[in-house]
Amino acid sequence: MTKNGLLITFEGGEGSGKTTQSEILYNTLLEKGFDAIKTREPGGTQLAEIIREILVQGESNKIDNVSELFLFAAARADHVQKVIKQCLNDNKIVICDRFIDSTLAYQGYAGRLDLNIVKEVNNISIDKIYPDLTFVFDINPTQGIERALKENNKETRFEEKDIMYHKKIRDGYMNIARDNPHRCVVMNGTDDIKQISKKILEITLNKINE
Ligand code: TMP
Repeated sequence: MTKNGLLITFEGGEGSGKTTQSEILYNTLLEKGFDAIKTREPGGTQLAEIIREILVQGESNKIDNVSELFLFAAARADHVQKVIKQCLNDNKIVICDRFIDSTLAYQGYAGRLDLNIVKEVNNISIDKIYPDLTFVFDINPTQGIERALKENNKETRFEEKDIMYHKKIRDGYMNIARDNPHRCVVMNGTDDIKQISKKILEITLNKINE
């Protein structure tokens, strides 16, 4: 299957503002007449949403790092095969709230799994469907966690991990952005919302017109 559309991923630590910005971009692209879909990970299919519940709820140490890696990979493989591939093939712009870089930052850099193994598992789960553009949202983890916990939902399993874990996620993302300059753009999560969304739209339109 040849890939035609565009896969845009939004990444970052907890409370970094990526979900808000992915929604703004999605709505703006629709208003401008583009054929776009918005999806998320873990999630995006019936099976992946069930796996999501297991992963993001409950006690923070309830799953060991290796099991966690494979659960995220299983959710992703289902999502890629059942949703993302088809949408790209239909020439749609797919906006995905988290993707492979989350696994490398959380399970790899913060969870201390071998980075090459995590990359290999990621490669297997995505079946050569790499992001074309990735916005990496950066925020001080203390500030981000405070923002995220205000949201009042049950999905706090990762937020409740200790601050060192979250600092490693932040450093991990900076390494990922440095290693993938062809697709990653780092955004300051504390900048003004409108300013960020304007920049994201500009970069996205440039990518679409490439
Ligand atoms: P969300 O809070 O952005 O909806 O994401 C759900 C949680 O899952 C978030 O705390 C980050 C975590 N996560 C990973 O640890 N690895 C992954 O591969 C993905 C996609 C998410």
